[in-house]
Amino acid sequence: MKRASRRSVRAPAPRRLPEPWRGRAKRGGVPVSTKVPSGGRGARSWFRTKSIERSIQDTEEPEHRLDRSLSAFDLTVFGVGVIIGTGIFVLTGSVARTQAGPATALAFVVAGVVCALAALCYAEFASTVPVAGSAYTFAYASIGELPAWIIGWDLVLEFALGTAVVAVGWSGYVRSLMDNAGWSLPKVLQGTDAVSGVGFDLLAFLLVLALTGILVLGMKLSARLTGIIVGIKVTVVLLVIIAGAFFVDTANYHPFIPEAQGQAGASGLSAPLIQLMFGYQPTHFGVQGIFTAAAVVFFAFIGFDVVATAAEETRHPQRDMPRGIIGSLLICTTLYVAVSLVVTGMQKYTELTVDAPLADAFKATGHPWYAGLISFGAAVGLTSVCMILLMGQTRVFFAMSRDGLLPRFFSRVHPRYSTPYRSTVLLGVIIAIVAGFTSISELAELVNIGTLFAFTVVAAGVLVLRRTRPDLPRAFRTPWVPVLPIASIAASTWLMLNLPAETWVRFAVWMLIGFAVYFLYGRGHSLMER
Ligand code: ALA
Repeated sequence: MKRASRRSVRAPAPRRLPEPWRGRAKRGGVPVSTKVPSGGRGARSWFRTKSIERSIQDTEEPEHRLDRSLSAFDLTVFGVGVIIGTGIFVLTGSVARTQAGPATALAFVVAGVVCALAALCYAEFASTVPVAGSAYTFAYASIGELPAWIIGWDLVLEFALGTAVVAVGWSGYVRSLMDNAGWSLPKVLQGTDAVSGVGFDLLAFLLVLALTGILVLGMKLSARLTGIIVGIKVTVVLLVIIAGAFFVDTANYHPFIPEAQGQAGASGLSAPLIQLMFGYQPTHFGVQGIFTAAAVVFFAFIGFDVVATAAEETRHPQRDMPRGIIGSLLICTTLYVAVSLVVTGMQKYTELTVDAPLADAFKATGHPWYAGLISFGAAVGLTSVCMILLMGQTRVFFAMSRDGLLPRFFSRVHPRYSTPYRSTVLLGVIIAIVAGFTSISELAELVNIGTLFAFTVVAAGVLVLRRTRPDLPRAFRTPWVPVLPIASIAASTWLMLNLPAETWVRFAVWMLIGFAVYFLYGRGHSLMER
């Protein structure tokens, strides 16, 4: 009690609900306009929804209240900070070489359109339910508790695994920069050996721990740091586009869409699920190759949805969330298309390298100085990708814990920094260990499937909520409902089907573990149950 009263003295005056919500929820958090389905152990309880008014009221609890400090500009910077990373700096080369040639630019357009459809659905939700947790919170408000749990569990694949994958990629870049300077770490600290499975990635481990510390110290600090990193990263990308444009040889664009070739070698579980299901065989190159490539470069867009996890920390979420989500996606799509056009114009697609295609294209045209700068920009740029993905994971975990689906202990915010420090430290340490000890490159596709699954649920959620709560004030409305959300579901499902069957198996195993945790812990401890 004493502690509570001390806190309440220190705590700022209670925040008011955002304008459109005033008068809709009465004191004590019980919604006026929505029935809160009662608890119960039957299947009915799996689909109990948490009303939006109640979700918003929960954000007012002093001990679980995050600081609202972000603007539309901060959100856009966050979006660009997390989106531009491994995808453009690394994947462009292998995709152009093996799947799409100069038409890689079109693969970016296709993946960008899939993401834009999803972004318009996220924007409606994030402006209507400005509560931490992104797709998890949206699903809880629209479809029900079990689907929400499933999506929260699924988001671990996007955010936590994504953080670890990018941290390992970052450490590779930094090691190569260190090598150039003549420094090197002992072999055993350079990461897990692919053959023996022994080793520890010290740099990836330290990066995640350092970022954890920054996230504990506050969103404003994280936003400032992200601003600096994004400045460096965007400058380097613009340098590639502007300087590279002078070295383009248009002969390299012929043929723009190389002739289709059958895919050899993909069989059994390594074949795309669509091939096993329908005997349909995706091709390398050709028009189909562009779509296969889109499923891979999709990774380059991952992250715009993280912006939605910061809804509760935004000063004017109704107005700024759609701006942040859609704005960052637009900026990045434009930069990606321009970069891939320039790079495939500088060097014949068959000669692009796989590890550092942007830097190496400059080396190949006789400009090694630019190459060093690009490698530096990529290494700096990947740190903000890791930090914001980690931030997304902590916010989803925080929201699930505040709802009682995970231990409530983790959703107390720091009395001074107003950040969810307990969940941040717990997750930061676990992810740092995973990044340090695991050889995770083959798990990267799990990040894609996890994200695409979240997209389908969010689009379905928009349709459900329009039907169940047509009365809600929606600061941003997804256009052309129901056509656009249905198109979003179809497009995401199509990309998922293009992923290897083994990725689906891993995904299914992860989800089964999630079901077990829900039935053993979450269902009984849910605040909705009590
Ligand atoms: N979109 C992020 C990247 O490309 C995850 O690294």
